[in-house]
Amino acid sequence: MTSNENDAPASDRAPRAPDETPAIRSTDLRVARGNKTILRGVTMSARSGEVLGVLGPSGAGKSTLFRALVGEIDVSSGRVELFAEDVTGLPLWARARRGISYVPQTPSVLWDLSVRDNLASYHRVVHGRVDAATLKSAVERLAQRVALEDRMDVRAGELSGGERRRLELARALTRPPKVLICDEPFAGVDPQQASRLGDMLRSLARDESVCVILADHHVEEALRVCTRAVLLLDGEVAAEADPAAFREHPLVVGRYLGSWARTMPPPPPRP
Ligand SMILES: Nc1ncnc2c1ncn2[C@@H]1O[C@H](COP(=O)(O)OP(=O)(O)OP(=O)(O)O)[C@@H](O)[C@H]1O
Ligand SMILES: [Mg+2]
Repeated sequence: MTSNENDAPASDRAPRAPDETPAIRSTDLRVARGNKTILRGVTMSARSGEVLGVLGPSGAGKSTLFRALVGEIDVSSGRVELFAEDVTGLPLWARARRGISYVPQTPSVLWDLSVRDNLASYHRVVHGRVDAATLKSAVERLAQRVALEDRMDVRAGELSGGERRRLELARALTRPPKVLICDEPFAGVDPQQASRLGDMLRSLARDESVCVILADHHVEEALRVCTRAVLLLDGEVAAEADPAAFREHPLVVGRYLGSWARTMPPPPPRP
């Protein structure tokens, strides 16, 4: 029998195209605190240009997974890779330098500073000191990206929930991310603003090849912008599907959406 490519062991086959390498991957990730196991071996991955929804009930471990991926908390075992590089032992700042940006679930703006000064502060942290003209134009560009250019002099503490979320997104874009992890970007945001934010996230993935990962209980909006979704249950990935199949998955209906799933309108066209 003649040997061909399909017979060859995986290690001998041609390497995958670079765009097939997951932007981020976790393998058997476990997190325990005290005698409580929060993540029970989470294996998942997401690619550049993809919007992955990590959905599941409160307490399933979504935020814990995100915090473990970005390096905010230590894991008990398992591995996190960024473009196939093992970053498990790296702290948050080192992963951020490699391209992971994070919008945490809890508010994280500098409340007493204006939008302009918030953006300038983030810029200084990421890029160090630059001349005033460079800083001004960078700050204006960031504000425009999240449609906050008309709110530059408003104190962050006086922004609406949706505006604050956009400011937090701008902060996450200060260093152009390769992987953007957003924990509940639509929480406390009205449907129109959520849809606007969703479009921004989708466009970052589609137009700039960012790998976007989000968790949110606004399931309709999350599934509108996702290209794929995983269901996290009790610290484990219980299901994975494209958005249309996800909403009908028996575990999604049975353990997360309940009877509400039946009343969910069909998905609108993806942006
Ligand atoms: N530092 C900690 N010490 C002990 N338990 C923790 C800690 N952090 C989180 N937990 C627990 O881990 C579980 C998962 O919490 P996590 O915040 O990850 O859930 P979640 O899926 O993000 O929930 P939600 O949808 O409400 O945001 C919860 O039971 C929570 O109480
Ligand atoms: Mg959470």
